[in-house]
Amino acid sequence: MEPHAVNPWVAVAYLIAGICFILALRGLSSPATSRRGNRYGMIGMAIAVVTTLATHVPRIDLATGPGLPRYDTSYIDLASMGEILIAIAIGAVIGLTTARKIQMTAMPQLVAAFHSLVGLAAVLVGIAAYYNPAAFGILAPGGLDILAASRIEMGLGVAIGAVTFSGSVIAFAKLNGNMGGAPILLPGRHVINLAALVGIAVLVGLFHRDTPALFWAIVLLSFAIGFLLIIPIGGADMPVVVSMLNSYSGWAAAAMGFTLHNTAMIVTGALVGSSGAILSYIMCKAMNRSFISVIAGGFGAEAGTGGSAAATDRPWKRGSAEDAAFLMKEAENVIIIPGYGMAVAQAQHVVREMADQLKSHGVGVKYAIHPVAGRMPGHMNVLLAEANVPYDEVFELEDINGEFAQCDVAFIIGANDVVNPAAKTDKASPIYGMPVFDVEKAKTIFFIKRSMGGQGYAGVDNEVFYMDQTMMLLADAKKMVEDIVKALAD
Ligand code: TAP
Repeated sequence: MEPHAVNPWVAVAYLIAGICFILALRGLSSPATSRRGNRYGMIGMAIAVVTTLATHVPRIDLATGPGLPRYDTSYIDLASMGEILIAIAIGAVIGLTTARKIQMTAMPQLVAAFHSLVGLAAVLVGIAAYYNPAAFGILAPGGLDILAASRIEMGLGVAIGAVTFSGSVIAFAKLNGNMGGAPILLPGRHVINLAALVGIAVLVGLFHRDTPALFWAIVLLSFAIGFLLIIPIGGADMPVVVSMLNSYSGWAAAAMGFTLHNTAMIVTGALVGSSGAILSYIMCKAMNRSFISVIAGGFGAEAGTGGSAAATDRPWKRGSAEDAAFLMKEAENVIIIPGYGMAVAQAQHVVREMADQLKSHGVGVKYAIHPVAGRMPGHMNVLLAEANVPYDEVFELEDINGEFAQCDVAFIIGANDVVNPAAKTDKASPIYGMPVFDVEKAKTIFFIKRSMGGQGYAGVDNEVFYMDQTMMLLADAKKMVEDIVKALAD
């Protein structure tokens, strides 16, 4: 058989897996279909893994080449099926335990940790394929050398993988608090980064000639650039970076797929790479960040430093659970705006209970979700779905923003930046330009947070605290809503 000729059954199985992954992404685009999407993803991955395992002995005729092979071809299989299954079992146990234990608020660092593993896997597969290409079926006909094109793809794969690995490790350390969240700004960092990237591109180009020193130079320089790109970014901006690294991990896998002539890896990698890039773009837009500066690194360095501290000496009104219950019971419609504080307090279940009670009093209830409410994409959707909030009561920013002008009560629970009008009016504010909810147009605003001093992610004061129609409900979100539920029942 020709080297790299693909068994037609393998091609069909990978095609089905690829279709499953596309259906998975489609399903994950809406909370209503996300469970089905996840199932498609699992089926696709099972098909891909089983197909790969069933055909993992490469088909290459080593005996046809003249002279001695340059590589050690005394063994073809790197690992026996038994060893592979043990490794899968260990990975499955670690994955299951982590998924069960992880707190929702710790999800961003978990995702960063997983991306670092994808990057590391690309680097390790690259090293293994470079030193034992016969085992991966990438020797040129004659068994003397790796195909030059495979080496370029391999260089690209390990480069992106190494950037993803070291970048994700730094992102994890910052998000997990193992490292200070403050940006570390090296002088001339943009010039250093650009020079390093050009250096990597040149080394990858030169790698069509087989030189181990070149291979290791690509690996080391790429590890360094991943580190350099991420250290200038402030810890709080890291979730956008995590989504960008997600995209990089996909491209790393796709490049390794080209090296190994594995269509499933190419398709899956490209899907992860492009969907991660689209997600990063959406997040950047929703946070008013520049997409290009995210890719270049260090975009968040200047953010979060501006803005004023909460001016608690200004007059504001404190409300009580009883006030909120009374006014909401009388209202025609209530829009609930959840944010990061609802996640911290784990108040989603009691919020749904409150909404059920209001509905039983004939009050119309809707939930307004900002694309970057919370600390990760879809954070609020996941929490509301967990509390069995009906999907048809949940609305995106652009679909509900026009309704605040006709709304009796805007019920803000643990949100802050996403309802801050400074984003529309104060050019000096770090959130200026970010689209926000027009809550100030509502007749009455209830604003749940723990203290007047505690600020949102951007660290800026919020004019809504001091508005005539605003009542501050200062307490832990869960405790406050529990009290409202009790008051509604009385
Ligand atoms: P934030 O602006 O971060 O505000 C959270 C609010 O919750 C604070 O006012 C805080 O005030 C309150 N809070 C915290 N714990 C609470 C508790 N246990 N009970 C009651 N209140 C509590 O949240 P947001 O409006 O959701 O905005 C998200 C921000 O994160 C945006 O600036 C966004 O750009 C940024 N961001 C989002 C993402 C994604 S992908 N979602 C990624 C990166 C950054 P107290 O401390 O006074 O209670």
